[in-house]
Amino acid sequence: MTTGSVAATSVGFIGLGNMGGALASGLIGSGRLAAANIAGFDTFAGAAPGFEGQRLGSVAEVAERSEVLVLAVKPHLIAAVCAEVARASKVPSLVISIAAGVSLARIRAALGGEVAVVRAMPNLAATLGCSATALFAAPEHQGWLAQAEWLFGAVGSVVRLPREADMHPFTAVASSGPAFACLFAEALADAGVHEGLTRETARVAVAAMLRGAAEMLSQPGATPAAIKDAVSSPGGTTIAGLAALESGAFRGSVMAAVIASTRRSRSLAEES
Ligand SMILES: NC(=O)c1ccc[n+]([C@@H]2O[C@H](COP(=O)([O-])OP(=O)(O)OC[C@H]3O[C@@H](n4cnc5c(N)ncnc54)[C@H](OP(=O)(O)O)[C@@H]3O)[C@@H](O)[C@H]2O)c1
Repeated sequence: MTTGSVAATSVGFIGLGNMGGALASGLIGSGRLAAANIAGFDTFAGAAPGFEGQRLGSVAEVAERSEVLVLAVKPHLIAAVCAEVARASKVPSLVISIAAGVSLARIRAALGGEVAVVRAMPNLAATLGCSATALFAAPEHQGWLAQAEWLFGAVGSVVRLPREADMHPFTAVASSGPAFACLFAEALADAGVHEGLTRETARVAVAAMLRGAAEMLSQPGATPAAIKDAVSSPGGTTIAGLAALESGAFRGSVMAAVIASTRRSRSLAEES
């Protein structure tokens, strides 16, 4: 199997829900692909009402028209969808699955043949073009990762994982992470309200602060420790707050959350 050029000429989506719809909009909105070169099929006719690509009538029709096919249905439906792809008269060059916990081996077995497969794990922020997406491919399909990077680059930043098992901690950090961050955000805002801020002021302040912290952390060479140290003056307000967080085992609690989430991801994958 040869590697395709980085930009695909056509991309198809099976499932136009939260993620399929977000990826399709991202491809069009980023100018990577014209709507005419994007096709999709969803069993729910009302899915992605704003979908600008061609809405087709079956998995096979989308597979036959697409150079790259993105599987964006729930994990328990992946095997059946792959079987439909395998029965299509023309198979895509590359199949990308975003289904959580469905291994490459299972997808490749269900597809049969020599189709290149990449696993991807985006997160819900893809709907705003701010996903953190992880990619994994088997050694013989490494050449296809550039095309997957091109695609997921339309909805945020992309990293390649060296081992498939890393999908579990990545899912805990990047996919469950927004829930952890929002719990922290809610507590920050509640505390601000407790101390007299209006709810709206606290909400705006927390969102802007988190956006700013994320931007600082995204600069080349930035580390959380250096940013923390830069705002912690001796005997100041920040170090007083940090001491209170440490007495509540803040870091240990966050690490325990990620470890629990990673374990749950592994056990769900084993059960399925
Ligand atoms: N949402 C996230 O944050 C997130 C993050 C990372 C990965 N993922 C993965 O992304 C995948 C999709 O998640 P989602 O949140 O986008 O789900 P979703 O909103 O439920 O979208 C899936 C869509 O696929 C449709 N569908 C079901 N069977 C189909 C079939 N045979 N052919 C075509 N369409 C079919 C569903 O229709 P019905 O509703 O009628 O069944 C639904 O509209 C999942 O595997 C999930 O693990 C999601």
